[in-house]
Amino acid sequence: MRGLDGKCALVTGAGQGIGQGVAERFAEEGAQVAVSDMLLAGAETTANDIGGDAIAVELDITSADSIRQAITDVTARLGPIDVLVNNAGWDLIEPFAGLSRAIPFGRPAEPAEIAAAVAFLASDDAAFITGQALSVSGGMTMQ
Ligand SMILES: NC(=O)c1ccc[n+]([C@@H]2O[C@H](COP(=O)([O-])OP(=O)(O)OC[C@H]3O[C@@H](n4cnc5c(N)ncnc54)[C@H](O)[C@@H]3O)[C@@H](O)[C@H]2O)c1
Repeated sequence: MRGLDGKCALVTGAGQGIGQGVAERFAEEGAQVAVSDMLLAGAETTANDIGGDAIAVELDITSADSIRQAITDVTARLGPIDVLVNNAGWDLIEPFAGLSRAIPFGRPAEPAEIAAAVAFLASDDAAFITGQALSVSGGMTMQ
């Protein structure tokens, strides 16, 4: 992926799940990653696992004060933020009997599979792409 090396990327909700996968992928691409989460312990675990330049930041996306404080913190430690991945949130994903039939691929996505699409959209390889919704759904959105 072109153009992510050396960039500063802030990922919200990166203490686990998809955000963790995105933070890991950006680090693999050479980005300096600010791993943020409302639960600092999770962010610290992700950042420690990544190692290198990754830092952990406490950030609750529902609080303007928290956002301001986190941006000040990240900018002071890593420099200006080039990429924001606002992943934080939650969804109640409950297994149901028809899952394998609902998703043509027969399984939910791995975080790394979502992260690959996020890294592409943030990279120079997507430099001429604007305002698109990219479905990473194992074919479910085709139905
Ligand atoms: N997993 C799926 O199949 C799926 C499908 C569609 C959309 N999504 C969306 O993708 C995102 C990530 O999903 P996931 O499955 O990795 O979730 P997850 O529950 O595994 O992880 C979410 C992370 O966000 C953090 N978080 C929650 N509220 C926050 C807040 N206010 N501020 C900062 N951090 C906060 C949590 O502490 C947690 O670390 C969510 O926004 C979710 O709605 C997920």
